[in-house]
Amino acid sequence: MIRVGIIGLGDISKVHIPIIMADENLLLVAVSDIDVNQWCEDSDIHFYENYKEMLDQENLDSVHICLPHYLHAPVTMDCIQRGIHVFLEKPMGINLKEVDELVDLEKKQPDMKINLCLQNRLNNTSIHMKKLVESGDYGRIIGMKGLVAWHRPREYYDHKPWRGQMDLSGGGVMINQSIHTLDIMQWIGGEIKNIQGSLSQLLDYGIEVEDTASARLEFMDGFSGLFYATNANPYNASVELEVVLEKARLVIRDNILYCWDEEGQHILVEDDKVQGSKFYYGASHKKLIHTFYKGLESNKDDYIPVSQGLQSMRMIDAIRRSSETGKIINMEEYNG
Ligand SMILES: NC(=O)c1ccc[n+]([C@@H]2O[C@H](COP(=O)([O-])OP(=O)(O)OC[C@H]3O[C@@H](n4cnc5c(N)ncnc54)[C@H](O)[C@@H]3O)[C@@H](O)[C@H]2O)c1
Repeated sequence: MIRVGIIGLGDISKVHIPIIMADENLLLVAVSDIDVNQWCEDSDIHFYENYKEMLDQENLDSVHICLPHYLHAPVTMDCIQRGIHVFLEKPMGINLKEVDELVDLEKKQPDMKINLCLQNRLNNTSIHMKKLVESGDYGRIIGMKGLVAWHRPREYYDHKPWRGQMDLSGGGVMINQSIHTLDIMQWIGGEIKNIQGSLSQLLDYGIEVEDTASARLEFMDGFSGLFYATNANPYNASVELEVVLEKARLVIRDNILYCWDEEGQHILVEDDKVQGSKFYYGASHKKLIHTFYKGLESNKDDYIPVSQGLQSMRMIDAIRRSSETGKIINMEEYNG
Protein backbone atom coordinates (compact mmCIF):
# COMPACT_ATOMS: atom_id res chain seq x y z
CA MET A 1 0.00 0.00 0.00
CA ILE A 2 1.18 3.50 -0.82
CA ARG A 3 1.07 5.69 2.29
CA VAL A 4 -0.48 9.06 1.42
CA GLY A 5 -0.83 12.35 3.30
CA ILE A 6 -2.63 15.58 2.46
CA ILE A 7 -1.62 19.11 3.45
CA GLY A 8 -4.42 21.67 3.25
CA LEU A 9 -8.00 20.58 3.84
CA GLY A 10 -9.90 23.37 2.10
CA ASP A 11 -12.12 23.28 -0.98
CA ILE A 12 -9.97 21.29 -3.41
CA SER A 13 -9.03 18.64 -0.85
CA LYS A 14 -12.68 17.52 -1.06
CA VAL A 15 -11.92 16.42 -4.63
CA HIS A 16 -8.68 14.59 -3.68
CA ILE A 17 -9.84 12.81 -0.52
CA PRO A 18 -12.57 10.56 -2.01
CA ILE A 19 -10.33 9.63 -4.96
CA ILE A 20 -7.52 8.56 -2.61
CA MET A 21 -9.88 6.76 -0.26
CA ALA A 22 -11.57 4.82 -3.06
CA ASP A 23 -8.27 3.49 -4.43
CA GLU A 24 -7.39 0.12 -2.89
CA ASN A 25 -3.67 0.65 -3.51
CA LEU A 26 -3.61 3.88 -1.52
CA LEU A 27 -3.84 4.39 2.22
CA LEU A 28 -4.68 7.87 3.46
CA VAL A 29 -2.60 7.85 6.63
CA ALA A 30 -2.54 11.45 7.80
CA VAL A 31 -3.74 14.94 6.98
CA SER A 32 -2.66 18.42 8.04
CA ASP A 33 -4.27 21.82 8.31
CA ILE A 34 -3.55 24.83 10.52
CA ASP A 35 -7.31 25.02 11.09
CA VAL A 36 -8.43 22.10 13.26
CA ASN A 37 -12.04 22.66 12.23
CA GLN A 38 -11.21 21.47 8.72
CA TRP A 39 -11.03 17.84 9.88
CA CYS A 40 -13.97 16.20 11.58
CA GLU A 41 -13.59 12.71 10.12
CA ASP A 42 -14.13 10.08 12.74
CA SER A 43 -11.47 7.70 11.46
CA ASP A 44 -7.97 6.29 11.94
CA ILE A 45 -6.50 9.03 9.82
CA HIS A 46 -4.10 11.10 11.92
CA PHE A 47 -4.51 14.87 11.98
CA TYR A 48 -1.63 17.35 12.35
CA GLU A 49 -1.69 21.10 12.76
CA ASN A 50 2.00 21.22 11.88
CA TYR A 51 2.64 19.58 8.51
CA LYS A 52 6.36 19.11 9.21
CA GLU A 53 5.53 16.88 12.17
CA MET A 54 3.32 14.82 9.85
CA LEU A 55 6.13 14.51 7.31
CA ASP A 56 8.60 13.47 10.01
CA GLN A 57 6.38 11.00 11.83
CA GLU A 58 4.17 9.18 9.32
CA ASN A 59 6.60 7.44 6.97
CA LEU A 60 4.66 8.74 3.97
CA ASP A 61 5.35 7.76 0.36
CA SER A 62 3.54 10.75 -1.10
CA VAL A 63 1.78 13.95 -0.13
CA HIS A 64 -0.96 15.93 -1.87
CA ILE A 65 -0.39 19.66 -1.51
CA CYS A 66 -3.74 21.49 -1.52
CA LEU A 67 -2.51 24.73 0.02
CA PRO A 68 -2.66 28.46 -0.75
CA HIS A 69 -0.25 29.25 -3.57
CA TYR A 70 2.55 30.86 -1.54
CA LEU A 71 3.12 27.57 0.28
CA HIS A 72 3.37 25.34 -2.80
CA ALA A 73 7.08 25.69 -3.52
CA PRO A 74 8.42 25.65 0.08
CA VAL A 75 6.22 22.73 1.17
CA THR A 76 7.13 20.75 -1.98
CA MET A 77 10.80 21.25 -1.08
CA ASP A 78 10.16 20.08 2.49
CA CYS A 79 8.58 16.89 1.12
CA ILE A 80 11.23 16.13 -1.49
CA GLN A 81 14.03 16.73 1.05
CA ARG A 82 12.45 14.00 3.15
CA GLY A 83 12.16 11.58 0.23
CA ILE A 84 8.38 12.01 -0.12
CA HIS A 85 6.84 12.25 -3.61
CA VAL A 86 4.45 15.15 -4.25
CA PHE A 87 1.12 15.57 -6.01
CA LEU A 88 1.04 19.36 -6.23
CA GLU A 89 -2.07 21.39 -6.94
CA LYS A 90 -1.49 24.12 -9.45
CA PRO A 91 0.21 26.59 -9.63
CA MET A 92 3.85 25.61 -9.04
CA GLY A 93 4.50 28.79 -7.10
CA ILE A 94 3.69 32.47 -6.94
CA ASN A 95 6.50 33.74 -9.19
CA LEU A 96 9.06 32.59 -11.74
CA LYS A 97 11.83 32.38 -9.13
CA GLU A 98 9.91 29.68 -7.24
CA VAL A 99 9.00 27.97 -10.50
CA ASP A 100 12.67 27.80 -11.58
CA GLU A 101 13.64 26.45 -8.17
CA LEU A 102 11.14 23.60 -8.45
CA VAL A 103 12.20 22.76 -12.00
CA ASP A 104 15.83 22.65 -10.75
CA LEU A 105 14.85 20.47 -7.82
CA GLU A 106 13.10 18.06 -10.18
CA LYS A 107 16.22 17.87 -12.39
CA LYS A 108 18.55 17.30 -9.44
CA GLN A 109 16.37 14.60 -7.87
CA PRO A 110 15.25 12.43 -10.81
CA ASP A 111 14.15 9.64 -8.46
CA MET A 112 11.59 11.89 -6.79
CA LYS A 113 8.31 12.67 -8.56
CA ILE A 114 6.52 16.00 -8.37
CA ASN A 115 3.24 15.85 -10.30
CA LEU A 116 1.71 19.18 -11.19
CA CYS A 117 -2.08 19.10 -11.20
CA LEU A 118 -2.81 20.39 -14.71
CA GLN A 119 -5.56 17.80 -14.87
CA ASN A 120 -7.31 19.21 -17.93
CA ARG A 121 -4.51 17.88 -20.10
CA LEU A 122 -6.00 14.46 -19.42
CA ASN A 123 -9.52 15.38 -20.53
CA ASN A 124 -10.55 13.18 -23.46
CA THR A 125 -11.56 16.32 -25.32
CA SER A 126 -8.13 17.99 -24.87
CA ILE A 127 -6.24 14.84 -25.87
CA HIS A 128 -8.45 14.32 -28.92
CA MET A 129 -8.17 17.95 -30.00
CA LYS A 130 -4.37 17.80 -29.76
CA LYS A 131 -4.28 14.56 -31.77
CA LEU A 132 -6.50 16.01 -34.51
CA VAL A 133 -4.33 19.12 -34.76
CA GLU A 134 -1.11 17.08 -34.85
CA SER A 135 -2.48 14.65 -37.45
CA GLY A 136 -2.37 17.44 -40.01
CA ASP A 137 -5.57 16.04 -41.58
CA TYR A 138 -7.25 19.45 -41.37
CA GLY A 139 -4.21 21.52 -42.34
CA ARG A 140 -2.29 24.07 -40.33
CA ILE A 141 -3.61 26.17 -37.44
CA ILE A 142 -4.92 29.56 -38.51
CA GLY A 143 -5.97 30.85 -35.11
CA MET A 144 -6.97 29.90 -31.59
CA LYS A 145 -9.24 31.15 -28.81
CA GLY A 146 -9.41 30.31 -25.09
CA LEU A 147 -12.29 31.68 -23.06
CA VAL A 148 -12.91 31.32 -19.32
CA ALA A 149 -16.00 33.20 -18.09
CA TRP A 150 -16.55 32.26 -14.47
CA HIS A 151 -18.28 33.68 -11.44
CA ARG A 152 -16.60 34.20 -8.10
CA PRO A 153 -18.78 35.93 -5.49
CA ARG A 154 -17.38 38.35 -2.92
CA GLU A 155 -17.45 35.58 -0.28
CA TYR A 156 -15.01 33.52 -2.33
CA TYR A 157 -12.34 36.09 -1.42
CA ASP A 158 -13.76 37.14 1.97
CA HIS A 159 -13.75 33.57 3.36
CA LYS A 160 -10.24 32.79 2.08
CA PRO A 161 -8.48 36.19 1.98
CA TRP A 162 -5.22 34.74 0.55
CA ARG A 163 -7.04 34.41 -2.80
CA GLY A 164 -7.26 38.20 -3.14
CA GLN A 165 -3.76 39.01 -1.85
CA MET A 166 -0.98 39.29 -4.40
CA ASP A 167 1.85 38.11 -2.11
CA LEU A 168 -0.05 34.97 -1.04
CA SER A 169 -1.69 34.00 -4.34
CA GLY A 170 0.64 35.41 -7.01
CA GLY A 171 -2.36 36.80 -8.90
CA GLY A 172 -6.03 36.31 -9.62
CA VAL A 173 -7.99 34.92 -12.52
CA MET A 174 -4.90 33.89 -14.50
CA ILE A 175 -2.95 31.90 -11.91
CA ASN A 176 -5.99 30.67 -10.02
CA GLN A 177 -8.79 30.00 -12.51
CA SER A 178 -7.48 30.03 -16.08
CA ILE A 179 -3.95 28.63 -15.84
CA HIS A 180 -5.32 25.36 -17.30
CA THR A 181 -6.56 27.16 -20.41
CA LEU A 182 -3.26 29.00 -20.90
CA ASP A 183 -1.48 25.69 -20.49
CA ILE A 184 -3.66 23.86 -23.03
CA MET A 185 -3.34 26.72 -25.52
CA GLN A 186 0.46 26.41 -25.57
CA TRP A 187 0.32 22.60 -25.27
CA ILE A 188 -1.69 22.43 -28.50
CA GLY A 189 -0.52 25.60 -30.26
CA GLY A 190 3.19 25.17 -29.55
CA GLU A 191 5.85 27.72 -28.77
CA ILE A 192 4.82 31.36 -28.33
CA LYS A 193 6.78 34.22 -29.86
CA ASN A 194 5.30 37.18 -28.05
CA ILE A 195 2.37 38.29 -25.89
CA GLN A 196 0.42 41.47 -25.47
CA GLY A 197 -1.97 41.51 -22.54
CA SER A 198 -4.15 43.57 -20.30
CA LEU A 199 -5.40 43.01 -16.75
CA SER A 200 -8.30 44.68 -15.02
CA GLN A 201 -10.70 44.55 -12.12
CA LEU A 202 -14.34 44.60 -13.13
CA LEU A 203 -15.55 43.59 -9.67
CA ASP A 204 -15.64 46.02 -6.75
CA TYR A 205 -14.42 43.54 -4.14
CA GLY A 206 -11.42 45.58 -2.99
CA ILE A 207 -9.01 42.72 -3.73
CA GLU A 208 -5.44 43.21 -4.95
CA VAL A 209 -5.47 40.65 -7.75
CA GLU A 210 -6.88 40.90 -11.28
CA ASP A 211 -10.33 39.44 -11.88
CA THR A 212 -10.15 39.83 -15.67
CA ALA A 213 -7.37 39.22 -18.19
CA SER A 214 -7.12 39.37 -21.96
CA ALA A 215 -4.19 38.67 -24.22
CA ARG A 216 -3.11 38.23 -27.80
CA LEU A 217 -0.63 35.39 -28.19
CA GLU A 218 1.60 35.29 -31.28
CA PHE A 219 2.70 31.71 -31.87
CA MET A 220 6.00 30.75 -33.52
CA ASP A 221 4.04 28.93 -36.22
CA GLY A 222 2.69 32.23 -37.53
CA PHE A 223 -0.85 32.34 -36.15
CA SER A 224 -2.30 34.22 -33.22
CA GLY A 225 -4.48 33.26 -30.31
CA LEU A 226 -6.92 35.22 -28.19
CA PHE A 227 -7.13 34.50 -24.48
CA TYR A 228 -9.84 35.99 -22.29
CA ALA A 229 -10.58 35.09 -18.67
CA THR A 230 -12.79 36.70 -16.08
CA ASN A 231 -14.34 36.00 -12.69
CA ALA A 232 -16.92 38.72 -13.33
CA ASN A 233 -19.34 36.60 -15.33
CA PRO A 234 -22.70 36.27 -13.53
CA TYR A 235 -22.41 32.45 -13.68
CA ASN A 236 -19.82 29.72 -14.22
CA ALA A 237 -19.82 29.03 -17.94
CA SER A 238 -17.92 26.06 -19.36
CA VAL A 239 -14.43 26.79 -20.62
CA GLU A 240 -14.32 27.26 -24.39
CA LEU A 241 -11.37 26.40 -26.56
CA GLU A 242 -11.39 26.82 -30.30
CA VAL A 243 -8.73 25.93 -32.85
CA VAL A 244 -9.33 27.08 -36.39
CA LEU A 245 -7.47 24.97 -38.94
CA GLU A 246 -7.29 25.37 -42.72
CA LYS A 247 -10.01 22.75 -43.30
CA ALA A 248 -11.97 22.56 -40.06
CA ARG A 249 -12.80 24.26 -36.80
CA LEU A 250 -12.39 22.31 -33.55
CA VAL A 251 -14.38 23.56 -30.57
CA ILE A 252 -14.50 22.36 -26.98
CA ARG A 253 -17.59 23.68 -25.25
CA ASP A 254 -19.63 22.21 -22.37
CA ASN A 255 -16.85 19.61 -22.10
CA ILE A 256 -17.66 18.27 -25.57
CA LEU A 257 -15.36 18.43 -28.59
CA TYR A 258 -17.07 19.32 -31.89
CA CYS A 259 -15.56 19.42 -35.34
CA TRP A 260 -17.03 21.85 -37.90
CA ASP A 261 -16.16 21.07 -41.49
CA GLU A 262 -15.79 23.47 -44.42
CA GLU A 263 -19.47 23.05 -45.35
CA GLY A 264 -20.55 24.25 -41.91
CA GLN A 265 -21.64 20.77 -40.77
CA HIS A 266 -20.52 19.66 -37.32
CA ILE A 267 -20.07 16.37 -35.54
CA LEU A 268 -19.58 15.50 -31.89
CA VAL A 269 -16.09 14.00 -31.62
CA GLU A 270 -15.60 13.48 -27.88
CA ASP A 271 -17.54 13.97 -24.66
CA ASP A 272 -15.87 14.25 -21.24
CA LYS A 273 -19.24 13.48 -19.61
CA VAL A 274 -18.62 15.85 -16.72
CA GLN A 275 -21.37 16.21 -14.17
CA GLY A 276 -21.90 17.93 -10.83
CA SER A 277 -21.84 21.47 -9.54
CA LYS A 278 -18.06 21.87 -10.09
CA PHE A 279 -18.29 20.77 -13.74
CA TYR A 280 -16.14 23.74 -14.69
CA TYR A 281 -13.11 22.26 -12.84
CA GLY A 282 -12.92 19.67 -15.62
CA ALA A 283 -13.07 15.91 -15.51
CA SER A 284 -9.66 14.62 -14.84
CA HIS A 285 -8.42 14.95 -11.25
CA LYS A 286 -9.13 11.25 -10.80
CA LYS A 287 -7.33 10.25 -13.98
CA LEU A 288 -4.26 12.29 -13.14
CA ILE A 289 -4.08 11.00 -9.56
CA HIS A 290 -4.31 7.42 -10.87
CA THR A 291 -1.69 8.09 -13.54
CA PHE A 292 0.66 9.52 -10.91
CA TYR A 293 0.32 6.51 -8.60
CA LYS A 294 0.65 4.01 -11.45
CA GLY A 295 3.85 5.87 -12.30
CA LEU A 296 5.10 5.54 -8.71
CA GLU A 297 4.50 1.79 -8.76
CA SER A 298 5.94 1.09 -12.20
CA ASN A 299 8.41 3.97 -12.31
CA LYS A 300 6.71 5.26 -15.47
CA ASP A 301 6.99 8.94 -16.34
CA ASP A 302 3.60 9.65 -17.91
CA TYR A 303 2.47 11.96 -15.09
CA ILE A 304 2.86 15.77 -15.44
CA PRO A 305 6.26 16.86 -14.08
CA VAL A 306 6.67 20.43 -12.85
CA SER A 307 8.84 21.32 -15.86
CA GLN A 308 5.61 21.09 -17.88
CA GLY A 309 4.16 23.97 -15.87
CA LEU A 310 6.90 26.41 -16.78
CA GLN A 311 5.35 27.82 -19.98
CA SER A 312 1.95 28.72 -18.51
CA MET A 313 3.68 30.51 -15.62
CA ARG A 314 5.80 32.46 -18.11
CA MET A 315 2.66 33.37 -20.05
CA ILE A 316 1.07 34.70 -16.86
CA ASP A 317 4.18 36.74 -16.10
CA ALA A 318 4.29 38.09 -19.67
CA ILE A 319 0.61 39.12 -19.66
CA ARG A 320 1.12 40.93 -16.34
CA ARG A 321 4.28 42.68 -17.53
CA SER A 322 2.62 43.66 -20.80
CA SER A 323 -0.34 45.08 -18.92
CA GLU A 324 1.95 47.07 -16.61
CA THR A 325 4.21 48.45 -19.36
CA GLY A 326 1.88 48.58 -22.36
CA LYS A 327 4.56 46.70 -24.31
CA ILE A 328 4.58 43.46 -26.28
CA ILE A 329 6.60 40.89 -24.34
CA ASN A 330 9.00 38.77 -26.36
CA MET A 331 8.98 35.25 -24.92
CA GLU A 332 12.65 34.75 -25.82
CA GLU A 333 13.44 37.00 -22.84
CA TYR A 334 12.58 34.04 -20.62
CA ASN A 335 15.17 31.77 -22.19
CA GLY A 336 18.17 33.95 -21.46
N1 LIG B 1 -6.78 21.85 -10.21
C1 LIG B 1 -7.88 22.58 -10.08
O1 LIG B 1 -8.73 22.62 -10.99
C2 LIG B 1 -8.10 23.36 -8.84
C3 LIG B 1 -9.38 23.81 -8.47
C4 LIG B 1 -9.52 24.55 -7.29
C5 LIG B 1 -8.39 24.85 -6.51
N2 LIG B 1 -7.16 24.42 -6.92
C6 LIG B 1 -5.94 24.75 -6.16
O2 LIG B 1 -5.98 24.11 -4.90
C7 LIG B 1 -5.22 24.86 -3.95
C8 LIG B 1 -6.06 25.10 -2.71
O3 LIG B 1 -7.20 25.88 -3.08
P1 LIG B 1 -8.49 25.89 -2.16
O4 LIG B 1 -9.49 26.66 -2.89
O5 LIG B 1 -8.80 24.50 -1.70
O6 LIG B 1 -7.93 26.74 -0.91
P2 LIG B 1 -8.57 26.81 0.54
O7 LIG B 1 -8.19 28.11 1.12
O8 LIG B 1 -9.99 26.42 0.50
O9 LIG B 1 -7.78 25.64 1.30
C9 LIG B 1 -6.46 25.77 1.73
C10 LIG B 1 -6.32 25.08 3.08
O10 LIG B 1 -4.94 25.12 3.48
C11 LIG B 1 -4.90 25.33 4.87
N3 LIG B 1 -3.57 25.84 5.26
C12 LIG B 1 -3.09 27.09 5.13
N4 LIG B 1 -1.81 27.15 5.60
C13 LIG B 1 -1.51 25.89 6.01
C14 LIG B 1 -0.34 25.29 6.57
N5 LIG B 1 0.78 25.99 6.82
N6 LIG B 1 -0.37 23.97 6.90
C15 LIG B 1 -1.50 23.24 6.67
N7 LIG B 1 -2.63 23.75 6.14
C16 LIG B 1 -2.63 25.06 5.81
C17 LIG B 1 -6.04 26.32 5.13
O11 LIG B 1 -6.42 26.33 6.50
C18 LIG B 1 -7.11 25.77 4.20
O12 LIG B 1 -7.93 24.83 4.86
C19 LIG B 1 -4.82 26.14 -4.68
O13 LIG B 1 -3.53 25.97 -5.16
C20 LIG B 1 -5.78 26.23 -5.84
O14 LIG B 1 -5.27 26.94 -6.94
C21 LIG B 1 -7.00 23.68 -8.04
